[in-house]
Amino acid sequence: MAVLDKITSQDAIALENQYGAHNYHPLPVVLSKGEGVYVWDVEGNKYYDFLSAYSAVNQGHCHPAIIGALTNQAQTLTLTSRAFYNDMLGRYEKFATGYFGYDKMLPMNTGAEAVETAIKLCRKWAYECKGIPEQEAIIVVCENNFHGRTTTIISFSNDEGARKNFGPYTPGFVKIPYDDLNALEAVLEQHTNIAGFLVEPIQGEAGVYVPSEGFLSGAKALCEKHKVLFIADEVQTGIARTGKLLAVHHENVVPDILILGKALSGGVYPVSGVFADNSIMDVIKPGQHGSTFGGNPLAAAVAMAALQVVTDEQLAENAERLGILFRKEMQSYVDQSDIVSLVRGKGLLNAIVINDTEDSSTAWDICMKLRDNGLLAKPTHGNIIRFAPPLVMNEEQLMDCVNIIKNTLKEFE
Ligand SMILES: Cc1ncc(COP(=O)(O)O)c(C=O)c1O
Repeated sequence: MAVLDKITSQDAIALENQYGAHNYHPLPVVLSKGEGVYVWDVEGNKYYDFLSAYSAVNQGHCHPAIIGALTNQAQTLTLTSRAFYNDMLGRYEKFATGYFGYDKMLPMNTGAEAVETAIKLCRKWAYECKGIPEQEAIIVVCENNFHGRTTTIISFSNDEGARKNFGPYTPGFVKIPYDDLNALEAVLEQHTNIAGFLVEPIQGEAGVYVPSEGFLSGAKALCEKHKVLFIADEVQTGIARTGKLLAVHHENVVPDILILGKALSGGVYPVSGVFADNSIMDVIKPGQHGSTFGGNPLAAAVAMAALQVVTDEQLAENAERLGILFRKEMQSYVDQSDIVSLVRGKGLLNAIVINDTEDSSTAWDICMKLRDNGLLAKPTHGNIIRFAPPLVMNEEQLMDCVNIIKNTLKEFE
């Protein structure tokens, strides 16, 4: 079989099973094309994408402006490494720092790499600017966090699946409950060597947990009081997903360090970045951190186009408006449902909680039925289903999806 011959779903799944590591448990659907809010499987069936590659494809699949920038740049220059300057990176850095309101950025590729970068930056700042004795810096994190899959990041996860048998773990992290200002205050008062507080403004992977109003602004104020860096991991929540450019903007918070990934490229190419002002970013000197692909001209061109789409198409405003409609529609369903116990979220990052135990297969079975009915979503943590369509969706499409979801859920009542 030639590599590019047409393939059936069954054969594609069999190939992945035989030749790929089993580190995922995908829904059995094999996608071969995407456009806007839709994806198609190899048999030609069309679906609404209600996951958007975990909020990477905010701008919609294969957005022509982003693909145009990609192909243009791909035919010109793709990678130089940072051993040399390239003519795109500086332009991108100026554009992106202006866009998010920071002095400087450090470009990387994946979300986890950007989180690692933020951790290193925070520790270095703590030793060189705050005066914490070397090796003693502590970063406060939240229970049920998800920041990626590297050894250091899983060291402060409390997801046993993500951690078990990957030790020894990286020290230097203290966990507190999410959405708990008293716990944050207590830990800041208890330890003198705290360098930073790393937090997701909404916990996405944990099941779209939205903190109480005032948590983010209160946490930022506590961090300021204790000269601790507030580090926002907006890899999933950022770039218009929650109805604002950044989720922290709901509480007018300006993180000291901002971490972005995923939709920074519209899901076209792995592009991530860490943003901070000079007083923090300037602690990193040549040779102290980097990545062969970080800041390459292809990524720079793609990211600029992807951010421009967010502005031009007013995706934050659209996510805000459609999110309110979605939760209103779903709430009216939840009110008379036995199978769904609640809907929550912000903008177009939402989830429903299925009225069954975490180890039940109900949420998975619902996602299989949603697939059969033309909509793709995936359970997270057993009984929670996340709903995060591309932000280029219109109201008619959203209502079509609401009907698919409601009709599917009815089959399980
Ligand atoms: C909040 C958050 N941080 C970091 C990551 C890791 O990103 P990546 O998978 O690109 O390494 C994710 C991925 O889902 C995420 O949701």
